[in-house]
Amino acid sequence: MADTLSQAAPTTISEDETRTYDPASDVVEQANVTAYMHEKGFKTFDELYTWSIENSEAFWTDMANRLEWYTPWEKVLDDSEAPFYKWFTGAQFNIIHNAVDRHLKTWRRNKQALIWEGEDGSYRTFSYLAVNREISKFANILKSMGVQQGDIVSIYLPRIPELMFAMLACAKIGAAHSVIYGGFSVEALAERMTDAQSKVLITADGGWLRGKIVPLKQTANEAMARTPNVQTCIVVKRTGQDVSMESGRDYWYHELLTLPIASPKCETVPVDAEHPLYILYTSGTTGKPKGVLHVHAGYAVGISATFNMTFDIKEEDRWWCAADPGWVTGHSYIVYAPLIEGATSFMYEGAPNYPYPNRWWALIEKYSINILYTAPTAIRGLMRFGDAWPNRHDLSSLRLLGSVGEPINPEAWRWYHKVIGKEQCPIMDTWWQTETGSFMITPNPTTPLKPGSGTRAFLGIIADVVDETGKSLGANEDGLLVIKKPWPSMMRTILHNPERYANQYWKSEPAGMYTAGDSARKDEDGYFWVIGRIDDVIKVSGYRLGTAEVESALVSHSSVAEAAVIGLDHEVKGTAIHAFVILREGKEGNSALEEELKAHVGHEMGPIAKPEKISIVTTLPKTRSGKIMRRVLKAQALGQDPGDVSTLE
Ligand code: WT7
Repeated sequence: MADTLSQAAPTTISEDETRTYDPASDVVEQANVTAYMHEKGFKTFDELYTWSIENSEAFWTDMANRLEWYTPWEKVLDDSEAPFYKWFTGAQFNIIHNAVDRHLKTWRRNKQALIWEGEDGSYRTFSYLAVNREISKFANILKSMGVQQGDIVSIYLPRIPELMFAMLACAKIGAAHSVIYGGFSVEALAERMTDAQSKVLITADGGWLRGKIVPLKQTANEAMARTPNVQTCIVVKRTGQDVSMESGRDYWYHELLTLPIASPKCETVPVDAEHPLYILYTSGTTGKPKGVLHVHAGYAVGISATFNMTFDIKEEDRWWCAADPGWVTGHSYIVYAPLIEGATSFMYEGAPNYPYPNRWWALIEKYSINILYTAPTAIRGLMRFGDAWPNRHDLSSLRLLGSVGEPINPEAWRWYHKVIGKEQCPIMDTWWQTETGSFMITPNPTTPLKPGSGTRAFLGIIADVVDETGKSLGANEDGLLVIKKPWPSMMRTILHNPERYANQYWKSEPAGMYTAGDSARKDEDGYFWVIGRIDDVIKVSGYRLGTAEVESALVSHSSVAEAAVIGLDHEVKGTAIHAFVILREGKEGNSALEEELKAHVGHEMGPIAKPEKISIVTTLPKTRSGKIMRRVLKAQALGQDPGDVSTLE
């Protein structure tokens, strides 16, 4: 069966490229955003939007009033030290009070907060009461290990409930977390733990992926050997194989849970509105990843408002964000926003096509998922297996779909709309970034959709396409995507590097606005079309990688003298990495070495960073100042004219 099905070709979809998809009237009537529009006395979304940007503090105040505060704020926005904006200053708050504690006073305490399925078919579910018990025990364990307010706890876990609990436990006691994606490897992990100066690491023996064990503890052991600051390691048992544990440093989580310190009662600590919630590392232009800082209050306001209005979450919904909690999508829309909104979140541990390409569709049927939020690369990957796989399943529970991470090509959009959504589910194509914390450009269920466009800015957000001087460009002119006013869930700084934050995002041209690093255009209806990154960031399967990070992993191999990497179009991944490598004196290039280099990058960075192709070369095109001209490499690789090469040495 597997074979015949996998040969079935996907539906050929040849509709008019420019067709607009209007929302159904019942969807519009029932939408959360429509209720808010009526509450504010407006007749159209456009009127509501205009009001929200002309009165952005009033709008964000409305959104903040949806949450509970220990003590109210004195100021909505403090811009006295711009671009180090602060929100809701003077308030005492804790995101956990809103995500968990407040629900315990209502019937929601018995509602499912999290439904989890392992790749092996195992199943666990947690009510809000149960989540509270789990995170309280975890928080007490962390306290007993000396974790204090202001510390940064590193978390390197597979997609299991403990990942959510570890994050929430840190926030509960005012410590910050730094989650490192479980697909990262030794050097990526070590570098992030060192930058954060973490004393505690939470990891697992392993995780399941495609029926195989991802040896997280082994990788963590190698990384800890490079990070003397880590003194304590808590290990969750998931896969059960033998792992090496260092006595006095490493502790099994299930053993800690049996100790009296692991009491299920723990007070949530009120913290300042601007208190750090987490650091999340993301790739930038230089080799070192940036530790993006988010704080408790403004972040909670932004993610809960966007989640409520874009994904229109209703009390009875089952929500599935299929991202990894290790990325910002998971932080905001698997962990924090769904809990703040009192929703039921579904989490799945493994690969979408394991053991067969129908796994996701089977999960939607089994758990009656109402809203699915995923990435274009996953959609393209599953589309390749053909329509028969989803068509075997009852997907009628779905009412809304979402996409994030990179531009979605119209063909994948239409397949998602037709074959998965049966033409009944609007697709929310949400544009945002690790740095923005929540959606910036996004439709809501009342928006007419155009495949491939994230449509327009969210309420309270002023987005635009401008030239280097900050001048707004006309319809269909390519330029820089910017956000013109601060918003509550914005990053606050880069850990240890406030100058880099101010210079890169607010002071570089066009100065005085937030520059996202993307190029885009707006069409005649004001719809945004994101074109791609303008810096040295490559999006592989939606994962953000810095060319410099991959290059430094290559150069750390004993045979490599110099390396340059570029991104080339790839059918499923969107972009794949092509590396150009100059070998050291006396080293000989052959296919065995190419494979060894790919494996080396995989070992240092993680499988996602493995180059698709390696070309051994003797020179690299550089400017006179020594900067590699990736543009020229790319043109060469594509057999195109490299354009202006006047700065080429
Ligand atoms: C970059 C941010 C934020 C969630 C996951 C990625 C690209 C993101 C879209 C979209 C076109 C998109 C941009 C952006 N991107 N969403 N809907 N359409 N491009 O977060 O790793 O911080 O990456 O992802 O290039 O700058 P991230």
